[in-house]
Amino acid sequence: MKDDLVDENINTDFLIVGSGIAGLYTAMKLSTLGNVIVITKGEKKESSTQYAQGGIAAVLDKGDSWDLHMKDTLDAGDDFCDEEAVRTLVKEGPDRVKELIELGTRFDYIEGELDLAKEGAHSRRRVLHARGDATGEEIRESLTEHIIALENVELHERTFLVDLLVHEDSFAGALCWDKNASELLFYHAVYGILATGGCGMVYENTTNPEVTTGDGVAVAYRAGANIRDMEFIQFHPTALYDPKGDPFLISETVRGEGGFLRNEDGERFMKDHHEDAELAPRDVVARAIIEEAEKFGKEHVWLDVTHLSPKYLEGRFPNIFKKLNERGIDPTQRWIPVAPSAHYMIGGVETDLYGQTSMNNLYACGETACAGVHGANRLASNSLLEGIVFGHRIYEKIKREGFKKNHDHRYPEDLDTPSLGIKEPKMETLKKEVGDNMMRYAGIKRERKGLSKLIRWLERKLKAAEDVDGWNTDDHEVKNMLTVGLLISRSALLREESRGTHYRSDHPYKKEAWKNKHVVLNKEEGS
Ligand code: FAD
Ligand code: SIN
Repeated sequence: MKDDLVDENINTDFLIVGSGIAGLYTAMKLSTLGNVIVITKGEKKESSTQYAQGGIAAVLDKGDSWDLHMKDTLDAGDDFCDEEAVRTLVKEGPDRVKELIELGTRFDYIEGELDLAKEGAHSRRRVLHARGDATGEEIRESLTEHIIALENVELHERTFLVDLLVHEDSFAGALCWDKNASELLFYHAVYGILATGGCGMVYENTTNPEVTTGDGVAVAYRAGANIRDMEFIQFHPTALYDPKGDPFLISETVRGEGGFLRNEDGERFMKDHHEDAELAPRDVVARAIIEEAEKFGKEHVWLDVTHLSPKYLEGRFPNIFKKLNERGIDPTQRWIPVAPSAHYMIGGVETDLYGQTSMNNLYACGETACAGVHGANRLASNSLLEGIVFGHRIYEKIKREGFKKNHDHRYPEDLDTPSLGIKEPKMETLKKEVGDNMMRYAGIKRERKGLSKLIRWLERKLKAAEDVDGWNTDDHEVKNMLTVGLLISRSALLREESRGTHYRSDHPYKKEAWKNKHVVLNKEEGS
């Protein structure tokens, strides 16, 4: 009797996985239609959203326009964005941001006007920020406060999504592990919404927090959903270089406020790489940094803000200053060592423009989804925006179509249960090896031989991990990382060209034949 293996059956209308901007905002919207449960695998604040610095891009200035925001996004995306998705993002973005303001998010103002910042590849100042460089924290807090006050929304912390349950090709619920009670739970919901964020932890050097192990993508792939564009992983050009492997982000807005990049000889090298110098698209800056560092046999270059007003900088970037000071760096006096670090998963669970995945009743939004907005290289500060624009569209679609409320369901009799038996984590060392190998063979530069070797290694390790009897959530994350690593490297091997963040040293140019081709992987179809 399958029910005997599940400690508790929980019923709701909407099950949302993830407590970042995408999950919280979508929960707020869907709560007007029915009962919502948000689950999150750690404490509620743990998410990339919490650490977002630069801000959220939206056309809210008289001198700006949708057309310009659209052009900037398309240009940065390197001929690979879905134009309709971008149009939706830039046109609907301002209303969604105004909603955040109405619900209490306090962005920074200067003389009564929004203090808009500039970032790489933006032709206008259009990035709203909060508490200087703590934009994500402010947004997350205001959304969380709002939804936990709602009667029909529950937020379950320390609840780990293990796998989705699928019945007759439709989302049927989710198996989750309650880390507090050490119990297996079956959540049954009419709709599932994946808002599990990105996969930075798959790389040894990342700006992302520990929760970003790509679980949503791995889970959706195992369930049979389409996964798209995984070869495009954005490296942020300027993370603090830390030989001990604990980098943190130095926002692009620091360069937006006039910071210079210098090589070991003190030269401002970006002028030689792109006409927009330090504010060129991220993929260009990241590759230029690697090139300049290698020229001098180094692993980093320098970010120089010593020519800027110390008082202004400290007020504008309080968190970055605090963190640098903790590491003994006074940026007003000396240059900051910086190097690229894995930052953003551009691909993900394939969706249409209403967050619908290839599986009935399963939706995805935020970083875990791929609707084609970011093309081959995301424009800075478009990601927080994407979470709310497409979260809203999920709500719009479900509202328009009407939905049946959930009636008590039990664990379906004809579904398999995963192998159970809680064991001590065994895969910690493997986690580190995944990060090292992904950096080495599927990082900023890739080529056929390295990718093929990586794929063979990942396949072997995943097979061995699957044969381990019993699991715990730490090991399960490592299995998810192996799965996501495979999706990235298989996609990167298939795309025989260089475009945006995907650079193949054996195919160093963009190819017309690949312009409209997406790599879509699906387990059921054997890819
Ligand atoms: P997240 O905010 O990452 O939330 C994902 C949630 O899913 C988390 O709560 C996580 O615990 C949960 N979860 C994951 N797996 C499971 C599971 N198996 N079971 C249960 N729960 C699970 N973008 C911008 O637009 N502007 C910026 O200024 C900016 N700055 C950034 C700075 C940093 C340091 C980083 C790392 C990213 C930044 N980004 C920025 C990117 C942006 O923050 C993220 O893309 C965005 O916040 C993603 O939101 P999300 O809701 O999709 O995912
Ligand atoms: C940053 O502040 O540089 C990060 C912005 C982003 O990733 O969109």
